[in-house]
Amino acid sequence: MKQPLLSVEHLRVEFGTPANPIVVVDDVSFEIEAGGAVGIVGESGSGKSVTSLAIMRLVPELCRISGGKISFEGNDLLKLPASAMPEIRGRDIAMIFQEPMSSLNPVMTIGDQIGEAIKLHEKMSRGERRARIIELLKLVGIP
Ligand SMILES: Nc1ncnc2c1ncn2[C@@H]1O[C@H](COP(=O)(O)OP(=O)(O)OP(=O)(O)O)[C@@H](O)[C@H]1O
Ligand SMILES: [Mg+2]
Repeated sequence: MKQPLLSVEHLRVEFGTPANPIVVVDDVSFEIEAGGAVGIVGESGSGKSVTSLAIMRLVPELCRISGGKISFEGNDLLKLPASAMPEIRGRDIAMIFQEPMSSLNPVMTIGDQIGEAIKLHEKMSRGERRARIIELLKLVGIP
């Protein structure tokens, strides 16, 4: 069987103290094939964002990934050193955060913000980068 691109197995995420945990993601499992899409549906506060943040290893402070396994291209992301994550984030796995008012910087243009991620991961001249940013915006219908 083909290995999925991303697999989340029995993920558990909690706030609180280890002795007194407040579990916000409890035994979540799903897989995504390359080129596939998975929608996660649930009421507000059911843990959709925390699940996504856990995959990026960006859970808030005071929050712990206390169980489960997250495999990306066969690597267990939870076993990688934290220092390995910036290379993966924004290149292999990216997230569109929920609140644009707090996740986008209002004093930077959108082009500069998209360019920042490209700059971190790809060797490109300024001109090439600008062309790529415009191409990406065009792809989603933004002139
Ligand atoms: N920074 C935080 N500190 C404390 N609790 C938090 C924090 N972030 C999330 N939680 C709690 O974790 C639980 C899951 O929240 P999460 O944001 O993942 O829900 P969601 O499914 O994304 O909701 P929504 O549909 O409103 O976006 C909720 O009970 C929430 O109150
Ligand atoms: Mg959310």
